[in-house]
Amino acid sequence: MKYTLGFRIWHWLSAIVILGLLGTVFLRKTFLSYRTNSEIIMTKLTDMGADIFKEDAVIIAKAIRNIMWEWHLILGYALAFLVLYRVVLFFIDRSKRDAFSSLTLHKKGVKISYYIVYATIFFITISGFVVYLHEYLELSQETTKQIKSLHELSYNVFLVFVPLHILGVFIADAKDEHGIVSTMINGKTKDNF
Ligand code: HEM
Ligand code: HEM
Repeated sequence: MKYTLGFRIWHWLSAIVILGLLGTVFLRKTFLSYRTNSEIIMTKLTDMGADIFKEDAVIIAKAIRNIMWEWHLILGYALAFLVLYRVVLFFIDRSKRDAFSSLTLHKKGVKISYYIVYATIFFITISGFVVYLHEYLELSQETTKQIKSLHELSYNVFLVFVPLHILGVFIADAKDEHGIVSTMINGKTKDNF
């Protein structure tokens, strides 16, 4: 058994939650961008003969966006749960752990990318909650802004990791690690199917 059931469940739940979080960011920056949508609201209302201040159009556009953005927070709670789940696994899981030094150069690179992703998951979760709870934590505007920009910066790690990871496992499965994806589904390696 390469990956225990608990570990596989963690992996796939994390994939769903992180892809969901990336989806909410994508929507916020595209179809639900308040800049674009407030322009549309203003133009359409002007066409209909009703004038509206830009600030009011922005309020409406943000209100529409916020219905979707609630999912960033809901999935944010789910990610916090998955972080705790991963910490528990770290202590109790028996999933196969290869000694770093025994790995090929390529595998070392892959492993390092996982360490970077784990660190990013930790950081983005903590910073997300700090920004979310800034009033409760009595943080200044300036500090909150700085943490928010670090939160947004770490998002780029996922933008690079997720496509490379998916492409990587597909290529590995097709080339010389047949069944690597099924291993993450059924837990078995090629030798003990
Ligand atoms: C947001 C999406 C995803 C994230 C954050 C993610 C994260 C991770 C992490 C952290 C590991 C390392 C586990 C460890 O050994 O400690 C891993 C391994 C793996 N993931 Fe993902 N994953 C994602 C999506 C996917 C998808 C869509 C697939 C399948 C098409 C996939 C297939 C695999 C496989 C096969 C492994 C084992 C690879 C190996 O042995 O090196 N992952 N993933
Ligand atoms: C994979 C995980 C995550 C990613 C990729 C991510 C990404 C982002 C990005 C890119 C932004 C900036 C959006 C913008 O201003 O255009 C943002 C804002 C934010 N995120 Fe996250 N985030 C993640 C997890 C979390 C978590 C766990 C929480 C905790 C609840 C959280 C709470 C927030 C909050 C409160 C904001 C500020 C929203 C605002 O200014 O209205 N995020 N996130």
